[in-house]
Amino acid sequence: MRTRFTDMMNITYPIVQGAMAWVSDAQLASAVSEAGGLGIIASGGRTAQWFREEIRLAREKTDKPFGVNLVLQDPDWQDKFQVILEEKPICVSVGAGNPLPLIEPLHEIGTKIFPVVPNIRLAKRVESAGADAIIIEGMEAGGHVGNISTMALMTQILPEISVPSIIAGGIADGRGLAAALLMGACGIQMGTRFYASQESSAHINAKMAIVNATDTDSVTTGRRGSLVRSLRNELTECYHKMEDEGRPREELSQLVRGTARKAPIEGDADWGIVQAGQSLSVIRELLPVATIIEQMMKEAREATELLQSYFVE
Ligand SMILES: Cc1cc2nc3c(=O)[nH]c(=O)nc-3n(C[C@H](O)[C@H](O)[C@H](O)COP(=O)(O)O)c2cc1C
Repeated sequence: MRTRFTDMMNITYPIVQGAMAWVSDAQLASAVSEAGGLGIIASGGRTAQWFREEIRLAREKTDKPFGVNLVLQDPDWQDKFQVILEEKPICVSVGAGNPLPLIEPLHEIGTKIFPVVPNIRLAKRVESAGADAIIIEGMEAGGHVGNISTMALMTQILPEISVPSIIAGGIADGRGLAAALLMGACGIQMGTRFYASQESSAHINAKMAIVNATDTDSVTTGRRGSLVRSLRNELTECYHKMEDEGRPREELSQLVRGTARKAPIEGDADWGIVQAGQSLSVIRELLPVATIIEQMMKEAREATELLQSYFVE
């Protein structure tokens, strides 16, 4: 399949593996890139040293394009930015913060930048500042989210933007890919679906919690701060109870401190955060990344053919 994004990135399919802090490493990213998509190594929460090693490891595992991700809320994001300037990956997706100052330095080293945007104002700002593509992420997504749905964002942003757009949030199969392309996007990004894949090095408990979950199991925490979408578990129930009791923000922060790594690394899917989006019930087993991508392409083709069959004279 060819879109402006696959042409720009020299990849086979318009499917990006979303950066996932504590989940997407060289193993997952290289598997997605080998299967024809675009893998992304997440630096969030990790050390700069780990990040550099994973970039180098991914280069050993694949000669296909892959990218990296920077979270601008990370306390040591500048150290990781320095790693990027030295390692010169093909592209960087940037979440949570103001990506504008990074555009010029990245372009100087020949690296493309894809800011993640949750609204139309930021989409227009990053486009006019020179972003190479934008990732439009709706509130259905796993992880830190805004409060506008993927459909509403596609409806409003896509007609206003001319750089290639990638849609994220609640897409987990080929019908979602076809729908995004039909709306005018150049590709999609999935996190949760790849979290629960065979190549994902996340702990089996976290992966199986995703496989066993359904639509209503995805909840958000943090209504007084930034929203985080994850699976409902002991931790989120406790968080909501404390929110209802009006407990101070520091106590809530204390409760979740360090929990982002607890589920994917230590396997505690009860008291760790299993960040996951809302499209859960179609994820029924831990499939290899290549199978996920092949199935999606087949489903997208079938959905498109079905749609065309409706247009009869
Ligand atoms: C476990 C997890 C961790 C995430 N961490 C990051 C991150 O570090 N940086 C980022 O830009 N997005 C992050 N995201 C968002 C994903 O990159 C992606 O946009 C999102 O998962 C798409 O929605 P989906 O989960 O419904 O597929 C994370 C998502 C998940 C599920």
